Amino acid sequence: MTVSIALPAPASLHARMAELLGRLSLAFDIANDSPYGKAVRSVVLAVELGKLAGASSEELRDTYWLSLFAYLGCPGVDHEQAPAGAEDDPSPTEGYGRVMSDTSVRLARIVGVGARVVAALGEIYEGCDGRTGPVRSKDGLSLPARLHQIAHVAEIAHDRRGQAGATALIRRQAAGQLDGRLCKVLLDNQAELFAALEDPCVLDRFLELEPKPVAWVDECRMDDIARALAIFADIKCPIFFGHSTGVAALAERAAVQMALSESEKRALRWAALLHDVGRLGVPNSIWTRPGPLDWAQWERVRLHAHYTERVLAPIGALGSVTEIAVAAHEHVDGSGYHQRRSGRALVPAARLLAAADVAQAMSEDRPHRPALEPAAVARELVASAREGHLDGTAVDAVLASLGMETRAEPRSVNGLSERELDVSRLLARGKTNREIALILGISVRTVHNHVQHIFDKLGVHSRSGAAIWLMDHDFAN
Ligand SMILES: [Fe+2]
Repeated sequence: MTVSIALPAPASLHARMAELLGRLSLAFDIANDSPYGKAVRSVVLAVELGKLAGASSEELRDTYWLSLFAYLGCPGVDHEQAPAGAEDDPSPTEGYGRVMSDTSVRLARIVGVGARVVAALGEIYEGCDGRTGPVRSKDGLSLPARLHQIAHVAEIAHDRRGQAGATALIRRQAAGQLDGRLCKVLLDNQAELFAALEDPCVLDRFLELEPKPVAWVDECRMDDIARALAIFADIKCPIFFGHSTGVAALAERAAVQMALSESEKRALRWAALLHDVGRLGVPNSIWTRPGPLDWAQWERVRLHAHYTERVLAPIGALGSVTEIAVAAHEHVDGSGYHQRRSGRALVPAARLLAAADVAQAMSEDRPHRPALEPAAVARELVASAREGHLDGTAVDAVLASLGMETRAEPRSVNGLSERELDVSRLLARGKTNREIALILGISVRTVHNHVQHIFDKLGVHSRSGAAIWLMDHDFAN
């Protein structure tokens, strides 16, 4: 029977560890261009095979976590390794196993699955080059590692070539790298095992197989997991070294300036750590491009916010964390991405994350520019607030947390820039577009554009609607 998961707000986060990690494994599928759900399917196959092979409950427990963590460490097809045919230049494979092992082991320790699983992770990554499975002889591997090895090979073959292709491959490897006895168990029970692999409710099956007692995520562990994933996402490409953790630290300091509640601060911290996990799905060749991006490359950059959403949105327990994280690149005037949310659709924590992300990014070297000095960062932030992109209050909070005296005043109103506020007041006083253009010394066409933006941002359709909004919110003067 499927276990129903309570989905409380982050303030009282209490989620199943297996569900959180199972769903987060999507980030690693995206990073590796693997079929979605690969980790979850492999765990199910490894454990079901172990049950049929007579593994003890202790061995099944180790198999479950080993097989899951074995996937939660793969850094993707870029910096640490690049298979033939990948978009980026192939780079040396040396260190691939170490990176996988480091991330996997760190997560395994956070969850507290025990020394045997940690040791088994070392077994399967020893000498691994990212293209093949474990290189250690099957005789030197523990039973959980051997089960993982077969499940890993069978899942990939099944995905690419179906049941017939998978059984043919297992048959061939039974006398070689894979454990012959376990291969025979798989071949003798292939109908049952492949049905498990093809189960449309495989995530439910994965949760049912979790060893008892069920592991839960508390806030402390969530902090650690979010930080581990942030570091993992930043490892993908050297230019992002320290980015996500830097954004989180900056946002948390600025949150004090904005007097966010403890619950909001906690959600903001996790959102800041997780906001760029979607970057794993975009090749490093785009992130490291020294020249301007063309439209197609920009589309791929924008996609990273969508990937972040796809990874986090199904994790109901994260609640507002997801809403904040996926809005990291939105602007209050609707000119950001990827949902083009604006104004009040962006909660204060989301506005703050956007400002902190820009500040942190500007203080880091990028291929097309060196890191900006603090004063230049402040100027850019203030300019962005005045243009209506970043929220003025959020920019002020970030600047204050950096010890900068510069401020973004006057603050934007509902995403309106200072100029749009001027136009909206003249509009509300009955001035025509031509009169407004003359008063402000701008073209009629520019006034027309401002008026369209004002209507969009205030959610009104007429001059009267804008006038009512301004008076209603005490911005008539
Ligand atoms: Fe970012």
